[in-house]
Amino acid sequence: MRELIGIRRARPAADLITDLIEVADAGDRLNEDEIVCTVIVLLNAGHEATVNTLGIVMRALLTHPDQWLSIVGDEGDEVEPATAVDEMLRWDPRLQMFERWVLEDGVTIGGREFGVGDRIGMLFGAANGDPARFPDPDRLDVSRGESTHIGFGGGVPFCIGAPLARLEAGRSAVPVACRGARADTGRPARVPAVFRDRWAASA
Ligand code: HEM
Repeated sequence: MRELIGIRRARPAADLITDLIEVADAGDRLNEDEIVCTVIVLLNAGHEATVNTLGIVMRALLTHPDQWLSIVGDEGDEVEPATAVDEMLRWDPRLQMFERWVLEDGVTIGGREFGVGDRIGMLFGAANGDPARFPDPDRLDVSRGESTHIGFGGGVPFCIGAPLARLEAGRSAVPVACRGARADTGRPARVPAVFRDRWAASA
Protein backbone atom coordinates (compact mmCIF):
# COMPACT_ATOMS: atom_id res chain seq x y z
CA MET A 1 0.00 0.00 0.00
CA ARG A 2 2.85 2.39 0.87
CA GLU A 3 4.50 1.56 -2.45
CA LEU A 4 1.27 2.36 -4.28
CA ILE A 5 0.96 5.65 -2.37
CA GLY A 6 4.53 6.47 -3.48
CA ILE A 7 3.65 5.69 -7.10
CA ARG A 8 0.54 7.88 -6.98
CA ARG A 9 2.46 10.69 -5.32
CA ALA A 10 4.93 10.62 -8.22
CA ARG A 11 2.26 10.09 -10.90
CA PRO A 12 -1.19 11.33 -9.80
CA ALA A 13 -4.21 9.60 -11.33
CA ALA A 14 -7.99 10.05 -11.23
CA ASP A 15 -8.50 7.83 -8.19
CA LEU A 16 -9.21 7.81 -4.48
CA ILE A 17 -5.60 7.33 -3.36
CA THR A 18 -4.52 10.40 -5.33
CA ASP A 19 -7.38 12.41 -3.76
CA LEU A 20 -6.36 11.28 -0.26
CA ILE A 21 -2.70 12.21 -0.95
CA GLU A 22 -3.81 15.69 -2.05
CA VAL A 23 -5.71 16.13 1.23
CA ALA A 24 -2.70 14.88 3.23
CA ASP A 25 -0.26 17.14 1.42
CA ALA A 26 -2.52 20.18 1.80
CA GLY A 27 -2.17 20.34 5.57
CA ASP A 28 -2.40 18.58 8.87
CA ARG A 29 -5.60 16.61 8.26
CA LEU A 30 -4.46 13.18 7.15
CA ASN A 31 -1.11 11.45 7.48
CA GLU A 32 0.26 8.51 5.52
CA ASP A 33 -0.66 5.93 8.19
CA GLU A 34 -4.25 7.19 8.03
CA ILE A 35 -4.31 6.92 4.24
CA VAL A 36 -3.11 3.31 4.52
CA CYS A 37 -5.79 2.48 7.13
CA THR A 38 -8.55 4.22 5.16
CA VAL A 39 -7.73 2.40 1.95
CA ILE A 40 -7.42 -1.00 3.66
CA VAL A 41 -10.77 -0.56 5.47
CA LEU A 42 -12.45 0.48 2.23
CA LEU A 43 -10.93 -2.44 0.36
CA ASN A 44 -11.83 -5.04 2.96
CA ALA A 45 -15.25 -3.63 3.87
CA GLY A 46 -16.16 -2.80 0.30
CA HIS A 47 -14.89 -5.78 -1.61
CA GLU A 48 -15.69 -8.90 0.35
CA ALA A 49 -19.20 -7.98 1.46
CA THR A 50 -20.10 -6.93 -2.07
CA VAL A 51 -18.66 -10.04 -3.73
CA ASN A 52 -20.57 -12.28 -1.35
CA THR A 53 -23.76 -10.27 -1.62
CA LEU A 54 -23.68 -10.53 -5.42
CA GLY A 55 -23.46 -14.31 -4.98
CA ILE A 56 -26.32 -14.30 -2.49
CA VAL A 57 -28.49 -12.26 -4.86
CA MET A 58 -27.73 -14.61 -7.75
CA ARG A 59 -28.43 -17.72 -5.69
CA ALA A 60 -31.62 -16.30 -4.18
CA LEU A 61 -33.07 -15.49 -7.59
CA LEU A 62 -31.88 -18.64 -9.36
CA THR A 63 -33.55 -20.78 -6.69
CA HIS A 64 -36.74 -18.64 -6.60
CA PRO A 65 -37.90 -18.30 -10.23
CA ASP A 66 -41.26 -16.90 -9.07
CA GLN A 67 -39.33 -14.00 -7.56
CA TRP A 68 -37.24 -13.14 -10.61
CA LEU A 69 -40.39 -13.39 -12.70
CA SER A 70 -41.91 -10.63 -10.59
CA ILE A 71 -38.83 -8.47 -11.28
CA VAL A 72 -38.98 -9.15 -15.01
CA GLY A 73 -42.76 -8.77 -14.63
CA ASP A 74 -45.36 -7.25 -16.91
CA GLU A 75 -44.59 -3.78 -18.12
CA GLY A 76 -45.48 -1.26 -15.46
CA ASP A 77 -45.90 -3.98 -12.88
CA GLU A 78 -42.30 -5.01 -12.29
CA VAL A 79 -40.60 -4.89 -8.93
CA GLU A 80 -37.68 -2.45 -9.09
CA PRO A 81 -34.27 -4.19 -8.83
CA ALA A 82 -33.35 -1.82 -5.98
CA THR A 83 -36.42 -2.95 -4.00
CA ALA A 84 -35.55 -6.59 -4.68
CA VAL A 85 -31.96 -6.09 -3.54
CA ASP A 86 -33.10 -4.69 -0.21
CA GLU A 87 -35.26 -7.76 0.39
CA MET A 88 -32.31 -10.06 -0.34
CA LEU A 89 -30.11 -8.06 2.04
CA ARG A 90 -32.79 -8.60 4.67
CA TRP A 91 -33.53 -12.24 3.92
CA ASP A 92 -29.90 -13.42 3.78
CA PRO A 93 -27.55 -10.67 5.00
CA ARG A 94 -23.92 -11.38 4.16
CA LEU A 95 -22.68 -9.79 7.36
CA GLN A 96 -24.48 -11.79 9.99
CA MET A 97 -22.85 -10.40 13.09
CA PHE A 98 -20.93 -7.41 14.40
CA GLU A 99 -19.50 -6.91 17.86
CA ARG A 100 -19.44 -3.96 20.22
CA TRP A 101 -17.76 -3.38 23.54
CA VAL A 102 -19.60 -1.55 26.33
CA LEU A 103 -17.77 1.69 27.19
CA GLU A 104 -19.72 2.84 30.25
CA ASP A 105 -21.67 1.39 33.14
CA GLY A 106 -25.44 1.57 33.39
CA VAL A 107 -26.21 0.21 29.92
CA THR A 108 -29.40 -1.88 29.87
CA ILE A 109 -30.62 -3.64 26.76
CA GLY A 110 -33.67 -5.87 26.73
CA GLY A 111 -33.79 -5.85 30.53
CA ARG A 112 -30.20 -7.06 30.85
CA GLU A 113 -27.53 -4.90 32.45
CA PHE A 114 -24.05 -4.52 30.97
CA GLY A 115 -20.85 -3.16 32.45
CA VAL A 116 -17.69 -1.58 31.04
CA GLY A 117 -15.78 -4.02 28.83
CA ASP A 118 -18.67 -6.40 28.20
CA ARG A 119 -18.69 -7.79 24.68
CA ILE A 120 -21.95 -7.77 22.77
CA GLY A 121 -22.61 -9.77 19.62
CA MET A 122 -25.26 -8.13 17.46
CA LEU A 123 -26.93 -10.75 15.31
CA PHE A 124 -27.98 -8.74 12.27
CA GLY A 125 -29.24 -11.87 10.56
CA ALA A 126 -31.55 -12.69 13.47
CA ALA A 127 -32.84 -9.10 13.69
CA ASN A 128 -33.60 -9.13 9.97
CA GLY A 129 -35.67 -12.26 10.54
CA ASP A 130 -37.63 -10.87 13.51
CA PRO A 131 -41.28 -11.86 12.92
CA ALA A 132 -42.44 -8.91 15.04
CA ARG A 133 -40.83 -6.59 12.50
CA PHE A 134 -41.10 -8.53 9.23
CA PRO A 135 -44.21 -10.71 8.78
CA ASP A 136 -43.38 -14.24 7.59
CA PRO A 137 -39.67 -13.36 7.68
CA ASP A 138 -38.31 -16.57 6.14
CA ARG A 139 -40.27 -15.95 2.95
CA LEU A 140 -38.28 -14.21 0.21
CA ASP A 141 -40.64 -11.57 -1.15
CA VAL A 142 -38.85 -9.16 -3.49
CA SER A 143 -41.88 -6.87 -3.49
CA ARG A 144 -41.79 -6.46 0.32
CA GLY A 145 -40.57 -2.86 0.01
CA GLU A 146 -38.77 -2.75 3.37
CA SER A 147 -35.51 -0.82 3.44
CA THR A 148 -35.43 -0.65 7.23
CA HIS A 149 -33.54 -3.94 7.59
CA ILE A 150 -30.09 -3.77 9.13
CA GLY A 151 -28.10 -5.50 6.39
CA PHE A 152 -25.95 -2.34 6.28
CA GLY A 153 -26.07 -1.69 10.03
CA GLY A 154 -28.56 0.46 11.83
CA GLY A 155 -26.99 3.21 13.86
CA VAL A 156 -24.20 5.74 13.83
CA PRO A 157 -21.70 3.31 12.30
CA PHE A 158 -23.68 2.73 9.13
CA CYS A 159 -22.17 1.25 5.96
CA ILE A 160 -20.61 4.11 4.02
CA GLY A 161 -20.80 2.06 0.81
CA ALA A 162 -24.52 1.19 0.99
CA PRO A 163 -25.60 3.33 -2.01
CA LEU A 164 -22.77 1.90 -4.15
CA ALA A 165 -23.49 -1.68 -3.04
CA ARG A 166 -27.23 -1.31 -3.80
CA LEU A 167 -26.36 0.04 -7.24
CA GLU A 168 -23.85 -2.73 -7.98
CA ALA A 169 -26.24 -5.54 -6.98
CA GLY A 170 -29.23 -3.97 -8.77
CA ARG A 171 -27.31 -3.37 -12.00
CA SER A 172 -25.28 -6.58 -12.17
CA ALA A 173 -26.46 -9.63 -10.22
CA VAL A 174 -30.21 -8.99 -10.56
CA PRO A 175 -30.25 -8.63 -14.38
CA VAL A 176 -27.93 -11.61 -14.86
CA ALA A 177 -30.02 -13.84 -12.57
CA CYS A 178 -33.23 -12.69 -14.26
CA ARG A 179 -32.13 -13.93 -17.67
CA GLY A 180 -34.07 -17.10 -17.13
CA ALA A 181 -31.66 -19.67 -15.73
CA ARG A 182 -32.68 -21.90 -12.89
CA ALA A 183 -30.49 -23.62 -10.38
CA ASP A 184 -31.19 -26.43 -8.00
CA THR A 185 -27.94 -26.92 -6.15
CA GLY A 186 -29.44 -29.38 -3.67
CA ARG A 187 -28.04 -27.15 -0.94
CA PRO A 188 -29.84 -24.69 1.33
CA ALA A 189 -30.83 -21.49 -0.49
CA ARG A 190 -29.55 -19.41 2.41
CA VAL A 191 -26.08 -19.27 3.91
CA PRO A 192 -25.89 -21.40 7.08
CA ALA A 193 -25.66 -19.28 10.24
CA VAL A 194 -22.05 -20.25 11.00
CA PHE A 195 -21.11 -16.94 12.63
CA ARG A 196 -24.07 -17.05 14.96
CA ASP A 197 -23.31 -20.63 15.98
CA ARG A 198 -19.56 -20.04 16.45
CA TRP A 199 -20.15 -16.90 18.49
CA ALA A 200 -22.74 -18.62 20.67
CA ALA A 201 -20.27 -21.47 21.29
CA SER A 202 -17.48 -19.06 22.30
CA ALA A 203 -19.61 -16.79 24.52
C1 HEM B 1 -23.59 -5.48 -0.26
C2 HEM B 1 -22.44 -5.00 0.17
C3 HEM B 1 -22.19 -4.49 1.56
C4 HEM B 1 -22.76 -4.88 2.74
C5 HEM B 1 -23.82 -5.96 2.97
C6 HEM B 1 -22.19 -4.03 3.78
C7 HEM B 1 -22.55 -4.10 5.11
C8 HEM B 1 -21.94 -3.35 6.12
C9 HEM B 1 -22.25 -3.47 7.52
C10 HEM B 1 -23.29 -4.40 8.13
C11 HEM B 1 -21.46 -2.59 8.18
C12 HEM B 1 -21.35 -2.42 9.70
C13 HEM B 1 -22.17 -1.37 10.32
C14 HEM B 1 -21.95 -1.43 11.82
O1 HEM B 1 -20.81 -1.42 12.30
O2 HEM B 1 -22.95 -1.51 12.54
C15 HEM B 1 -20.63 -1.94 7.19
C16 HEM B 1 -19.67 -0.99 7.49
C17 HEM B 1 -18.88 -0.40 6.55
N1 HEM B 1 -18.93 -0.57 5.18
FE1 HEM B 1 -20.17 -1.79 4.17
N2 HEM B 1 -21.29 -3.18 3.19
C18 HEM B 1 -21.26 -3.42 1.85
C19 HEM B 1 -20.51 -2.75 0.89
C20 HEM B 1 -19.62 -1.75 1.16
C21 HEM B 1 -18.88 -0.99 0.16
C22 HEM B 1 -19.04 -1.17 -1.35
C23 HEM B 1 -18.06 -0.15 0.85
C24 HEM B 1 -17.08 0.87 0.36
C25 HEM B 1 -16.93 1.24 -0.89
C26 HEM B 1 -18.29 -0.35 2.27
C27 HEM B 1 -17.65 0.31 3.27
C28 HEM B 1 -17.94 0.20 4.63
C29 HEM B 1 -17.22 0.90 5.68
C30 HEM B 1 -16.04 1.85 5.48
C31 HEM B 1 -17.80 0.53 6.88
C32 HEM B 1 -17.43 1.00 8.28
C33 HEM B 1 -18.33 2.17 8.63
C34 HEM B 1 -18.07 2.67 10.05
O3 HEM B 1 -17.56 1.93 10.90
O4 HEM B 1 -18.40 3.84 10.28
N3 HEM B 1 -19.26 -1.32 2.41
N4 HEM B 1 -20.96 -2.40 5.95
